[in-house]
Amino acid sequence: MNLQIDPFTLDAASEQLQKLLPNAKPRCGVILGSGWTEAVQGFQGTEISYTDIPGFGSTGVMGHAGKLLVTEINGMEVFIFQGRRHWYEGEGWTPVILPIYLLHSMGADAVLLTNASGGIRSDLPPGSLMVIDDHINMLGSNPLIGPYNEKLGTRFPDQSEVYDKPLRKKLLAAGADSTGVYVATMGPTFETPAEINQFKVMGADAVGMSTVPEAIIANALGMQVAGLSCVCNWAAGISPTKLTHEDVNETAAATMPRMKKTITNFLKDLARSGN
Ligand code: HPA
Repeated sequence: MNLQIDPFTLDAASEQLQKLLPNAKPRCGVILGSGWTEAVQGFQGTEISYTDIPGFGSTGVMGHAGKLLVTEINGMEVFIFQGRRHWYEGEGWTPVILPIYLLHSMGADAVLLTNASGGIRSDLPPGSLMVIDDHINMLGSNPLIGPYNEKLGTRFPDQSEVYDKPLRKKLLAAGADSTGVYVATMGPTFETPAEINQFKVMGADAVGMSTVPEAIIANALGMQVAGLSCVCNWAAGISPTKLTHEDVNETAAATMPRMKKTITNFLKDLARSGN
């Protein structure tokens, strides 16, 4: 199987979405990661199952719904992708970066990426909401590896400011606790304590298995990128207990009122200010 981005599938997906939503004009998108699905409960709109869009494959991760919600916040159209695909699922980059490609092809120029992470920095206990200031790519790969596709930006995208400064400010004002550097690993194993020590020395504040690929593509496409991480556990070696996906989801559920408030305030602010 070819793990590289498949440009034909991307375009087929984009054509299909245009057909399903001929009048859509999203300003912005949200990708809901592990445990985040409930954060848009009560948002009204049209729902499209990922199975109706070529390229998504089947979402098989607990806490991921696998559908696109088209909604409106104070007059601003927002595409909310409930559930993401991951590199560790082994189906290549196409399903992972597809939401970004679709958002861009439908005219959106901003995206909020959410995830669950493990806290490395001492002031990021479980339940903290960390605005992503920057990232470290430890995925062992990059979604832009492969033949050059001009529809994904330049061959060598600058990454001096992947996460848009004004959007970072808006997330903090919307209810996030802190800012920091997110390191993405390939997964699906949680890290070893020695790996966490290494990431700490490297300057990472929280660790997870997602977000960086989407941020790389959105930045390459010239979109404004925002990242918000729900720290759901202390990272390995710092945590007094072994790590489980169930505990991650439990912390996310307990933090949900603040996650929901932060996303909602952020989107309202974006709708109001227009940038
Ligand atoms: N490591 C990697 N991914 C995660 C973690 C973690 O500790 N917590 C939630 N997602």
